[in-house]
Amino acid sequence: MNPAPNLILIGPMGAGKTCIGRRVAERFGLAFIDADQAIVDDVGTSIPAIFENLGEAGFRAHEKRVLNDLLQGNGQLVSTGGGSVLDADNRQRIRQRGFVVYLRVSVQSQLQRLQKDKTRPLLQRPDREQVLADMAALRDPLYRDLADLIIDTDLYTSAEATAQLVVRLASQWQISEPTA
Ligand code: S3P
Repeated sequence: MNPAPNLILIGPMGAGKTCIGRRVAERFGLAFIDADQAIVDDVGTSIPAIFENLGEAGFRAHEKRVLNDLLQGNGQLVSTGGGSVLDADNRQRIRQRGFVVYLRVSVQSQLQRLQKDKTRPLLQRPDREQVLADMAALRDPLYRDLADLIIDTDLYTSAEATAQLVVRLASQWQISEPTA
């Protein structure tokens, strides 16, 4: 058993962090928080608008601040944006504040799942496959290094991945009580 105050989902775009995260949060009675949505609520504009107005660096600065605020809380399932692990402070915060689940997905599955996606600014270009492969090469070692548990979502529907995750969490993760 590995006590931690939050569950934190990491992994690339299209791994199912939001969908699986919602279901798992409900199963464990945790507040579900989507970090991207929290950024949108905080800044007051969409993710594409933030990238357009402030560039990726501007988005990353908001991501870091909002994630840091979110992770002060307890009893939450936090679904993180795929690029949040690029920042060393974010990684340290994620490690300190949660039991970390890496939802893995192959580039081929990402391409299928994100075929019609218009909401991820980093994918609005013709060489998506190369972009996703480059991201995976850089980020997969970071995800693996942080993970307490890895689920390969290529093999499962989101309902199956949720069921897998619930079983494994029940034996591996214990929520830690907040210290007063
Ligand atoms: C990003 C992933 C997105 C979002 C932004 C950048 C990335 O979140 O934060 O578009 O760098 O991988 P999801 O992983 O929830 O799609």
